Amino acid sequence: MLTAVTGATGFLGLHLVRELLARGRRLLLLARPHPLPAPVRVERFLRACGADEDELRAARTHMETVEIVLEDGFLGLGRVAFQRLADRVDVLWHCAGHISFAATLRQARRTNVDGTRHVLRLLSAGERTPLLCHVSSVAVAGARTRGVVEETVLDDSFGFNTPYEQSKFEAEALVHRWVAQHGGRAVVFRPSGLVTHHPAHPARPRHPLQVLARQVDTVLRHDPGMLTSPGTMTLPVPPGASTNILPVEHAAYAMVEAAERHTSRTPPVHHVVNPRNVPLTELIATLGRHFGVRVDTAEHLPAGQPDVRRALPAYAYWLSVSRTYEDGNLARLGLAYPGRPAIDRHYLASALR
Ligand SMILES: NC(=O)c1ccc[n+]([C@@H]2O[C@H](COP(=O)([O-])OP(=O)(O)OC[C@H]3O[C@@H](n4cnc5c(N)ncnc54)[C@H](OP(=O)(O)O)[C@@H]3O)[C@@H](O)[C@H]2O)c1
Repeated sequence: MLTAVTGATGFLGLHLVRELLARGRRLLLLARPHPLPAPVRVERFLRACGADEDELRAARTHMETVEIVLEDGFLGLGRVAFQRLADRVDVLWHCAGHISFAATLRQARRTNVDGTRHVLRLLSAGERTPLLCHVSSVAVAGARTRGVVEETVLDDSFGFNTPYEQSKFEAEALVHRWVAQHGGRAVVFRPSGLVTHHPAHPARPRHPLQVLARQVDTVLRHDPGMLTSPGTMTLPVPPGASTNILPVEHAAYAMVEAAERHTSRTPPVHHVVNPRNVPLTELIATLGRHFGVRVDTAEHLPAGQPDVRRALPAYAYWLSVSRTYEDGNLARLGLAYPGRPAIDRHYLASALR
């Protein structure tokens, strides 16, 4: 049985690959050209996770790579090699994505929507009936701020804050259409914000909290006008604002385990989330301590106060969100997040290192 993986070299993909290798799966890494071959990047990551020589040797024998161009209709392979690939794949994890909040809609669509369309085309072209494990995101809920987002719902009526969200929505919609119209087999995962408490390391791509911290750092360095007074910043945060953060290690485990147990009765969408949101005040206070800045929060900013939302527009929306996510489908498989480690200020402080 051959499991193909796109995005294997990314933050989440590396953890998925680790889980798949631990189960003895034979992997075909569908990676874009990069100076370091994908298996070398996987190996460096496994080493950083503490893998011993025997595990690394086993991993090496279980991985091969095909270089692809996701944006091309034949994945940059030409018809013949595309067909050959299509005939080999039993399972495909589609995890590649353009995740920058700063991407234009055109850029985000090219990778996330066109890329998904080309992956679906590959899966339809082969002589097998492969299973697609599609990595979507809770971001498909778009600009919705409140209530419980259900696993059965894919709704664009709230609009979108970023092209990233819109492209993830459109990509997931393509997958559902493919299942309905072409009889494709798919399971969709919608993770929330994935992080790790392991410190930054060259073999580990950055996670969203580290990306946010970098941007905050830039603002603090180059835009001191964002401080309300020396060493103090004030953010507008409504009562109850919260966000959903989950350790990537649990997310990858739960996703691979759920996919391994896939049957024709498996629900099509799984939220991969923490049953408990993190209060935004806790996250903001931890970020403040990280940078040695006192952060006050207020429901409304007094007139004339510097507004950090102007400096970080892609993140501004998250200051007013309190939505939560249904997570019944993983829970029914016994794969809901058990709450350990707790995502508290100690965990968040480690995640920011
Ligand atoms: N991280 C989260 O918190 C989170 C939450 C929800 C959903 N997700 C979803 O999870 C997936 C992975 O996210 P991530 O955080 O792991 O992102 P990441 O660290 O940026 O990894 C992205 C992966 O996609 C590959 N990729 C990007 N553009 C590509 C292209 N044009 N052609 C081929 N491969 C391409 C990258 O390859 P290179 O290594 O060559 O750059 C990398 O392997 C995305 O679909 C994202 O929407 C992530």
